[in-house]
Amino acid sequence: MPKQDPVSGLRRALLSAGGALLLSAALLPVRAKAQGNAKSRLGVIGSGHIGGTIGGLWVKNGHEVLFSSRHPEELADLVAGLGANAQAGTVQQAVEVGEVLFLAVPYAAVPQIGQEYGVSLKDKIMLDACNAVAQRDGEALAAEVERDGIGIVSQRYLPGVRLVRAFNTLNYAIFAREANRPDPKLAVPIAGDDPEAVKVAAELVRDAGFDPVVVGKLADASRFQRGAPGYGQAVSAAELRQKLSLTP
Ligand SMILES: NC(=O)c1ccc[n+]([C@@H]2O[C@H](COP(=O)([O-])OP(=O)(O)OC[C@H]3O[C@@H](n4cnc5c(N)ncnc54)[C@H](OP(=O)(O)O)[C@@H]3O)[C@@H](O)[C@H]2O)c1
Repeated sequence: MPKQDPVSGLRRALLSAGGALLLSAALLPVRAKAQGNAKSRLGVIGSGHIGGTIGGLWVKNGHEVLFSSRHPEELADLVAGLGANAQAGTVQQAVEVGEVLFLAVPYAAVPQIGQEYGVSLKDKIMLDACNAVAQRDGEALAAEVERDGIGIVSQRYLPGVRLVRAFNTLNYAIFAREANRPDPKLAVPIAGDDPEAVKVAAELVRDAGFDPVVVGKLADASRFQRGAPGYGQAVSAAELRQKLSLTP
């Protein structure tokens, strides 16, 4: 079989974004990824501090990543610095091209993204790193997150998405510095309701150079949301499991 050129693969996907064929073809690599043996085409929504950092780690690991922005031209330096496996595009293109999505926007944008891209987002696996901060995202949304837990609230605004909370607990500079460090790797807590999505997310956490710790279902994501015991813990997986009383 001829070897597939990854650059042309991503470019081709970008060119044909919008085609139903692309969406159904996306399921195969996701299955393979859940088994831990494939590189995926990833779509990053919000390519700022955390999206740019984690997306960049995936590029270095060999994934094709489409970094998106409402102003894709502003991502020229980011993608140029990452090489051929990184491309810039619109949010719509990231949603369509990404076999798996990474959401890293201010929390106030989450409901709007759910409304605007809801149909295309249905059944997509999405890693959600967004935190609700009252001063930035509004008192009402922050209070809703405090009351119901962030995993439940994110899913409420992103219905039909196979959501996994991930990469929300530490500053991007810590992720950049500690990625791929010698064992024990830095732990990244994750949580989701869809077992296959959680497996895919765990593989992507490993590919970025960290050690995934499955904390539980989306309802359990409150255990590592802002202000909770699992938040801000730059520790190993064993230490995080101990702090959260999880079985080793
Ligand atoms: N910074 C960290 O270390 C860190 C760590 C963990 C979690 N988080 C969480 O991750 C999220 C992103 O934080 P950040 O520090 O990376 O922010 P950031 O640097 O400001 O980047 C956020 C990006 O979101 C995009 N964006 C904003 N509104 C949008 C909308 N309505 N639709 C689509 N894209 C939109 C912006 O892109 P364009 O303007 O180019 O479209 C911007 O580049 C936040 O929820 C934050 O709490 C941050």
